[in-house]
Amino acid sequence: MLVFLIGFMGSGKSTVGKKLAKKLSFDFLDLDELIEKDEACSIDQLFTKFGEEHFRKIEHRLLTAQFNKKKLVLACGGGTPCFYNSINLMNEVGCTVYLQMNQDALFSRLINAKSSRPLLKNRTEPELRNYIQLKLAEREKIYLESGLIINGIGVNVNTLAQQIIEKFGDR
Ligand code: S3P
Repeated sequence: MLVFLIGFMGSGKSTVGKKLAKKLSFDFLDLDELIEKDEACSIDQLFTKFGEEHFRKIEHRLLTAQFNKKKLVLACGGGTPCFYNSINLMNEVGCTVYLQMNQDALFSRLINAKSSRPLLKNRTEPELRNYIQLKLAEREKIYLESGLIINGIGVNVNTLAQQIIEKFGDR
């Protein structure tokens, strides 16, 4: 089984992913970390030096490079499912789980965690609020195509592991 954790920036994909992998006795990988290792460059630098499109190509290449893995939880970046038809590809090869969170919760998490995120770091508080509202509305249509949708606040990994096995146990 290959589990993809999906959701907006700040929704807790990496934190939940690590715990979930432990619970399922799966490996854990973070796609942003894979990109940084592969390119020997921070995500922020990749955006600044080469632009978003270049980043998205690398992101997609490293995403699809995981498709033959088994017993893996992969924490995706917030934009990963939204480019190159990736949500459909992920749904074909594995199990997608959306950690859903509303814009207020995301705002309060991201206000202190924007400096390393190129899409957020230069925004003032009102701009950040506005960006989250617009981007979430745009992306949520895609996130909602996930096989499992769970509340991202106070995730219980025992319950989540059980839900994943019930929903995707045969995959
Ligand atoms: C992005 C989310 C980031 C990272 C990059 C772009 C996005 O990952 O991939 O900064 O487009 O939402 P996190 O969701 O882990 O912050």
